[in-house]
Amino acid sequence: MGKEFKFDVEAIRAQFPACKLEVGGAPIAYLDGPGGTQVPQRVLDRIVKYLVEENANEGGNFKAGRLGEILEEEARVAAADFLGCEQGEIGFSNSSTQNNVNFAHALARRFEPGAKILTNQLEHQCNYAPWIHLGMDGFNTEVVKMDTVTQQIDMDDFKAKLTPDTKLVSLNWASNGLGTVTDVKKLIAMAHEVGALTVVDAVHYAAHFPIDVKDIDTDVLVCSAYKWFGPHLGVIYMKKDLIEEMGFYNVMCEDIATGPRRFHMGTPQYELLTGMTEAVNFVASVGEEYADCFEEELKGLTGRRRNVVAGMTAFDHYESGLAKQLRDGLRAIPGVHVFGPAEGEARTPTVVFTVDGFTTDEVSQMLGDRGINSWHGDYYAVQIMKAMGVYDKGGMVRLGLAPYVTQSDIDRTLYAVRQLVAGA
Ligand SMILES: Cc1ncc(COP(=O)(O)O)c(C=O)c1O
Repeated sequence: MGKEFKFDVEAIRAQFPACKLEVGGAPIAYLDGPGGTQVPQRVLDRIVKYLVEENANEGGNFKAGRLGEILEEEARVAAADFLGCEQGEIGFSNSSTQNNVNFAHALARRFEPGAKILTNQLEHQCNYAPWIHLGMDGFNTEVVKMDTVTQQIDMDDFKAKLTPDTKLVSLNWASNGLGTVTDVKKLIAMAHEVGALTVVDAVHYAAHFPIDVKDIDTDVLVCSAYKWFGPHLGVIYMKKDLIEEMGFYNVMCEDIATGPRRFHMGTPQYELLTGMTEAVNFVASVGEEYADCFEEELKGLTGRRRNVVAGMTAFDHYESGLAKQLRDGLRAIPGVHVFGPAEGEARTPTVVFTVDGFTTDEVSQMLGDRGINSWHGDYYAVQIMKAMGVYDKGGMVRLGLAPYVTQSDIDRTLYAVRQLVAGA
């Protein structure tokens, strides 16, 4: 049994300059985390340091010119610690969507015409549209249904569609539209049994839980640093052998055509790479504080990887308690409908709902006027909104937890929705 877990939210908030901002005399409640988190001072400082002291294209015969390659490698090592892999298995681009589009272009060269691709309705467009596009380009893309009652993947449909001619399976680890967490490890094993490659969208999952890509054994995984305290940068993991086999579109220079440099599409975003490295260091610094509480979860881990897992585990423990209060509080308000999987099922601390008699735009506007940042609409989880029958009705309202969100933020939000419904 480790030390008792008691999360110091004020110590976290002190590190985020945005937490000092107010609307109407109250601190802003940042419940828009699933759209992107706030950024700690140390990440901002690191980006400024790069732009002031280290700014140069790589390859110049001067101090800063020699740094680019080193900073890029540091970023790969940091992302590898975040995901649990080797640094040679990491690549970067401006977003997860861009990484998937690049991957799709590479696959289009590799697959035989007619190759079968499976995607599913739980996906964000990032891990849906690239595969639908390949379907328009002569491949055979099929969409696995979601079960609108359990709000999870329809396993009967998945099993029926996963046939020996399937070459790629896209999977969503956690839905930004509903908070549903999918048992991707099980589905990846099934996909591998028929010889298919797998690509996991971990953009929403990575903001709340530690990731071990080797444990789930996916071939490819994408996530985005701006969802976990970093800048707008897409991170892609790909198994080493697959990187070497993949014919990426790039500028065909011999010296960038090997290893993770095969992902390069021009000059890397060095300032964002340094910011991402610092975001990983931020998570690890929190983990160092709480590692003693999670001895079981950290068995066999060392160094920064251990602290990253401890940090993400601490965030999960803190956020899941507040999210449950938020769901329970909303459900108790007449006319409020909370979506997402049943209590007890795996889920992220993201809470989605609608309010009878109000559009989602009106609800989020009312919250925004009170300094409570939410999101509304489809958040690019378009297939979910269509399946749930709310796409043409303004989608849903979304509130998401982050480690700097407080009990008071939750109480204020519930009070505001109660007042809205009461017509106060
Ligand atoms: C689940 C999920 N996948 C993919 C994305 C897209 O990520 P990016 O903006 O890096 O392309 C998002 C962004 O909200 C997301 O929540």
